[in-house]
Amino acid sequence: MRLQVIEMKLHNFNSGPSILPLPVLEQASNAIHNFNNTGLSILEIGHRTSHFQEVLNDAIASVKRLMQLDDQYEVLFLHGGATTQFMQVPMNLLDDDQIAAYCDNGIWGNKALKEASLFGNIVVAASSADKKHTYIPKELVFPETANYLHITTNNTVEGTQWHDYPTTTIPLIGDMSSDIFSRQINFKKFSLIYAGAQKNMGAAGVNMLVIKKDILGKIQRRIPTIMNYQKHIEAGSLMNTPPVFAVYVSMLTLKWIEEEGGLVEMGRRSKERASLLYNTLDSLPFFKTYVAKEDRSEMNAVFFIEDENLQNLFLDECKQAGFIGVKGYRTVGGIRVSMYNALPLSSVQAMVDLMQSFASKHA
Ligand SMILES: Cc1ncc(COP(=O)(O)O)c(C=O)c1O
Repeated sequence: MRLQVIEMKLHNFNSGPSILPLPVLEQASNAIHNFNNTGLSILEIGHRTSHFQEVLNDAIASVKRLMQLDDQYEVLFLHGGATTQFMQVPMNLLDDDQIAAYCDNGIWGNKALKEASLFGNIVVAASSADKKHTYIPKELVFPETANYLHITTNNTVEGTQWHDYPTTTIPLIGDMSSDIFSRQINFKKFSLIYAGAQKNMGAAGVNMLVIKKDILGKIQRRIPTIMNYQKHIEAGSLMNTPPVFAVYVSMLTLKWIEEEGGLVEMGRRSKERASLLYNTLDSLPFFKTYVAKEDRSEMNAVFFIEDENLQNLFLDECKQAGFIGVKGYRTVGGIRVSMYNALPLSSVQAMVDLMQSFASKHA
């Protein structure tokens, strides 16, 4: 299937689920037929077998190596998308009469804070809503008594990204759904990280969580067992049937990241792709971007053509050229080019070639 895709020269700029590495697709496809010579499909194996335990152990070990985590941290693979974490984080870390601080930097962070307000008192530490979330506010104000500070490290919809994380004395929590494992960072700045797998690290259906154990057990709320982080840690992500196939694809993708050179190499590639795209954008005033230059996302570039008819024509030409997923998010409009780990530089080159020829015809 993917071979066909290559022959047809499709370029997958989807924002998520998005492009996965070809070796991962090949291994996953083989495992659908015969997983590790068991004679069974990966879709048929029991989650309490040694076969699956090995998959889970390998995935967790990869995460710990990539993030350079010590034993203070636990890694979980849980059901649900990142949206589940908008509720599960406050449910585990916030009592009704307590305060949590949230940065309102984009549509996803805004959803997270609204959900958290069902569980306690939310203080907005900083907001970029005044400019339609086109920048990352650097001045954060929140009480030292807040239980935690929540940020969305990459704003998938608006195309902004935190390049320097805030320093706090309270636990820092990051929704890293759209830039997880795209570069080397100091993961230990965070007490909790969560990410839906479907962009940089696998297939939809599973969340990866990294939790510093000392933040748990501090609230009085009664937490439903299936939502309880501590219980998931005790059960080793096997409290109930996990999304076996999605965990397997994450394990393969994590291994691929390590084999390709780890986060230093992923970071180099991210920078290379993003520089090519943004340098082109800056050289062609025909395309407009409203995102603050220093806050531009290396994962999602969001831009516009002011004349809507021309913008639609550009999107049509993208379609004809085999560019997938380029239309901006429904509430933002415009053009969005997502450049996750598995996207080859040649796809970005094809995009900038089209941008240049389109601008020279229509500017
Ligand atoms: C940063 C961020 N957080 C949360 C979500 C929601 O993820 P899910 O659809 O897996 O619940 C997304 C989806 O794209 C996202 O980009």
